[in-house]
Amino acid sequence: MKSQTLLMWTKLGLGVFLLSSACSRSPKAEPAILWKSLAAADLNAQQAAQQTKAEQARDGLGKALLAELTAALEQGAVHAITVCSERAPALAEEKSKAFAVRVGRTSLSLRNPDNGAPEWAKQHVGAGQAAPAYFGGAGGEFAALYPIRLMPQCLQCHGKVDDLAPEVRDVLAKNYPQDRATGFAAGDLRGWFWVEVPAKL
Ligand code: HEC
Repeated sequence: MKSQTLLMWTKLGLGVFLLSSACSRSPKAEPAILWKSLAAADLNAQQAAQQTKAEQARDGLGKALLAELTAALEQGAVHAITVCSERAPALAEEKSKAFAVRVGRTSLSLRNPDNGAPEWAKQHVGAGQAAPAYFGGAGGEFAALYPIRLMPQCLQCHGKVDDLAPEVRDVLAKNYPQDRATGFAAGDLRGWFWVEVPAKL
């Protein structure tokens, strides 16, 4: 009798467990990858090919962004803000598809909190060192971080607050109340391009 009761409770418990775990399944798209830091000199042939691919995606996104930003800046910095707020994420998605990777931008001093670093990149980004960094996933995936330095024209929106045009300052304050991306000088490390390359190229 005792053991039957125990069995009943065990079954009930298991049922509740299965039900709750089914209902609380998080919407994560992919399972977490275990990443390990890789030294540039130690990349094997596969990783070297993945590194080339990562650089191509970085260049693709970087050049497209700069071209759109340069064109928009001709009409004034306020006008160009939408290039960074709308075109940057759209281009990142477009280039991710085109190169069959995941590519994006991040920083230690974020303007938009949505641009936070992927989990594997957090430590390196937090350390603020400017050297590129590479990571290998347990399943043969590859990831890279490439530094982004500021050019003079970037300072129209990332320079010292007092040097920004008043209307730029107003739009940034309104749209980015947690903005930490001002006060920079040309040549400063502004952030990183991050790229994740799958095991199969
Ligand atoms: C016209 C204003 C403007 C100019 C010029 C500008 N940025 Fe930005 N930048 C922004 C805005 C606005 C965001 C936030 C974008 C978003 O909402 O995702 C941003 C975000 C970024 C980010 C992503 C990380 C974060 O803080 O959210 C990086 C990296 C960055 N800018 C680098 C640069 C570089 C490098 C240049 C020069 C080539 C530059 N920016 C020029 C306005 C500007």
